[in-house]
Amino acid sequence: MPAVALNSLKLEGKKVLVRCDFNVPLDAGRITDPTRIDASLDTIRYILAHSASAVLCSHLGRPKERTPSLSLKPVAEHLTAALGKKIALAPDCIGDITGRMISDLHPGDAILLENLRFHAEEEANDRDFSHELARGKNVYVNDAFGTAHRAHASTVGVTRFIAERAAGFLMLRELEALRAVTENPAHPYVAILGGAKVSDKIGVIRNLMTKVDAVIVGGAMAYTFLKARGVPVGKSRVEEDKVDLARELLAEAAKRNVAFLLPIDHVVASAPEAGATVETVRQIPPDKMGLDIGPEAVAEFIARLGGAKTIVWNGPLGFFELPEFAAGTLEVGEAIANLHGVTSLLGGGDTAAAVAGHPWAGNFTHISTGGGATLEYLEGLELPGVKALEA
Ligand code: 3PG
Repeated sequence: MPAVALNSLKLEGKKVLVRCDFNVPLDAGRITDPTRIDASLDTIRYILAHSASAVLCSHLGRPKERTPSLSLKPVAEHLTAALGKKIALAPDCIGDITGRMISDLHPGDAILLENLRFHAEEEANDRDFSHELARGKNVYVNDAFGTAHRAHASTVGVTRFIAERAAGFLMLRELEALRAVTENPAHPYVAILGGAKVSDKIGVIRNLMTKVDAVIVGGAMAYTFLKARGVPVGKSRVEEDKVDLARELLAEAAKRNVAFLLPIDHVVASAPEAGATVETVRQIPPDKMGLDIGPEAVAEFIARLGGAKTIVWNGPLGFFELPEFAAGTLEVGEAIANLHGVTSLLGGGDTAAAVAGHPWAGNFTHISTGGGATLEYLEGLELPGVKALEA
């Protein structure tokens, strides 16, 4: 049975453990992008408005023990401002003090537990730790789509101890958006993939190849494929140990009659450095590296995407962190966002960061908050955090 939706539960007077993905980027203790927190606000507001209390929990970063710089304090402050009510931070996610704070909550109150990963038992999916996390809560809601590919205590183990459980609204939105591009998607269907490494995307390319009409590849990973095609790539970043695999994937695409587009021109420089001397070339010289797709590639990719009814995009098409190499990602992104009558799903933290703040970014059908979770779903893998919600 698919996961129950949050709004089908009776919540009045209950204590709801809400697993969120508040794993947000921080710079010197300040949140630089609160998108993931804001994406769960409707779930939290719903619980509070239904006279329940919310016990919010999340991981932040990858600490192996208590690490003050990875405290969820900035998240508690952001939540307090966003919800317009004080969201206290408990000193730990388990223990007596936290237990007392939870039992003192009134309907309509929320509290945030300290970073789950301050306990190694979280990632170990430890049974006793899961039991402790569940203590004093009547309902479990998982809204942490971004962590659904992890079988941890707070995403899987805890469901052994709380019978009443549901998917939060963010989790539901994410799953619906992913289903739309994997179960009977409208054709033509184009996947556009970028980012640094072929190795991160092998499973996704293989699985999407069974569904799409065309695969477009940009970003550093394009150079491994170009090398596999025998195209000179200069000093571009190539995963030498993946060139054979890239060749296999190209052959498989040809066998399946799936078009496989690689950039035909490039923005190159000696190194990915601000202020570098930049050139646009069709053939990459031996002393230069490709750092963005060139204008002809942009035009070719946009033309192909223009005919699509379904588009999945994961991974930037160039070294977008520097404005010199961001044009390809932004021009293609804007073109996709402005298409009509197309279902467009954008996934991956880097891709979302690349388009963030642009006026057209709101025009995608869906921007996923998931990185690894979105990729694993697109690979066709089962997400343990979703599976654990199923009855
Ligand atoms: C993510 O950022 O992809 C999720 O929060 C999961 O984090 P993790 O890769 O550290 O498990």
